[in-house]
Amino acid sequence: MYCCSFSDKVMDHFMSPRNVGVISDADAEGSSGDPECGDALTIYIKVEDYVITDISFLVFGCVAAIASSSMTTELAKGRNLEEALQITNQDIADALDGLPESKMHCSVLGADALENAIKNYYTKNQKK
Ligand code: FES
Ligand code: FES
Repeated sequence: MYCCSFSDKVMDHFMSPRNVGVISDADAEGSSGDPECGDALTIYIKVEDYVITDISFLVFGCVAAIASSSMTTELAKGRNLEEALQITNQDIADALDGLPESKMHCSVLGADALENAIKNYYTKNQKK
């Protein structure tokens, strides 16, 4: 038994996370971390015509951080950059059928790392 009660979807994404790993030729990447728990996430994206065509992540974190990271990649894949920027941590938690209140901060990692990856893409491509 876990001390938090997680939804089946959280457990599914924790046990079988989607899109794990590094994209070696990624067009951009973004990280986020929570100084309180020490958890950290990096997201890698491939972009074509402003659409996220591929996405992956590496995370060091708890059950909710792993599940949230996995769900973030699922939500962002195939979206254009402006749509993907609108994804909030509440969207990520909702897509996981909710997170315990004490674990909501874990979903912020996903939203922040995605935002940083997209900003990194814009920064790199303005310079060209
Ligand atoms: Fe440990 Fe919930 S699983 S705090
Ligand atoms: Fe901090 Fe989950 S406990 S990200």
